[in-house]
Amino acid sequence: MNWDDTTDTDATGERLVGPVADREDQAVEAALRPKDLGEFIGQEKVREQLDLVLRAARARGATADHVLLSGAPGLGKTTLSMIIAAEMEAPIRITSGPAIQHAGDLAAILSSLQEGEVLFLDEIHRMSRPAEEMLYMAMEDFRVDVIVGKGPGATAIPLELPPFTLVGATTRAGLLPPPLRDRFGFTAHMEFYEPAELERVVHRSAGLLDVEIDADGAAEIAGRSRGTPRIANRLLRRVRDYAQVKADGLINRDIAAAALAVYEVDARGLDRLDRAVLEALLKLFGGGPVGLSTLAVAVGEERETVEEVAEPFLVREGLLARTPRGRVATPAAWAHLGLVPPRPAAPGNGQGDLFGT
Ligand SMILES: Nc1ncnc2c1ncn2[C@@H]1O[C@H](COP(=O)(O)OP(=O)(O)OP(=O)(O)O)[C@@H](O)[C@H]1O
Ligand SMILES: [Mg+2]
Repeated sequence: MNWDDTTDTDATGERLVGPVADREDQAVEAALRPKDLGEFIGQEKVREQLDLVLRAARARGATADHVLLSGAPGLGKTTLSMIIAAEMEAPIRITSGPAIQHAGDLAAILSSLQEGEVLFLDEIHRMSRPAEEMLYMAMEDFRVDVIVGKGPGATAIPLELPPFTLVGATTRAGLLPPPLRDRFGFTAHMEFYEPAELERVVHRSAGLLDVEIDADGAAEIAGRSRGTPRIANRLLRRVRDYAQVKADGLINRDIAAAALAVYEVDARGLDRLDRAVLEALLKLFGGGPVGLSTLAVAVGEERETVEEVAEPFLVREGLLARTPRGRVATPAAWAHLGLVPPRPAAPGNGQGDLFGT
């Protein structure tokens, strides 16, 4: 599955439930990141597998295999890369695909690594082609060819590298060329989190931020966090503000619900845009099928905004289906908005017409 992280700056930059880190997130995230695997919540499979990989490497006194972390924004890829370094008691160097435009940029980084160092390459799918090819050899043979000179007189000087662990992160694993993907010894696919796991995230963050919260308050925030720890932490901060200003600071279910109502994040984590799309689909088009362009006009948004910003979550939640004949609401969508379908719904079978109401 792919998650587009390129559209978020414009269309979702202001969204409280947007997946990508905003400036405020960046400021607090360092303080909220779990420091070791034991503190890292959820992702049981990934944690178990990674634990084995790291333990085995440590027992052999070797550098850990290269690790690829793939998954939607805010699920903990950067956090895990730091944990890998911490567990290996190794230093970490952090860079990203877009920062490496020339192979020479990468050569400079690689040749300055210490033995055993973790190189975290964020957004690895956005690296330039020549840098990517240099990386193949570096990952496999711990060697790069540095080209000296230009034109016919150019020569390749092989340069030995100390063994290192590459940790690549991507929101778009599908965009990685197979030769690159194949050079990772271990690939971790990060999943969206279960509500119970997000409750633990909220409790943990509340503790670190010195915020008082009860179990119901944490559950209320977790349920609206779209399976994403980053969003859970962000909603917690907004609810904390509300609890301070409007109450005595303690976050319980009522406070959390009231605070998030102010920010128009509903019980299932839909925000104003998501609800507008769903409401138009149900109220104006009888649940569909309706074409994307028509739906976009109805909510006064760009086609791309509806398709890339609102729809992925609605589809994931099972509220909306994309069919060859257009967008269709599921029975869950009617239930979520408290509306009754115009007739016994047979959604998704492509039979519906536009029953205007
Ligand atoms: N398993 C977890 N347990 C507790 N907190 C977590 C967990 N995963 C992520 N977080 C919190 O969520 C925030 C975002 O995580 P992180 O920055 O690692 O996500 P990411 O996958 O790197 O996102 P992006 O794709 O945008 O770079 C961090 O502040 C971290 O504290
Ligand atoms: Mg990250």
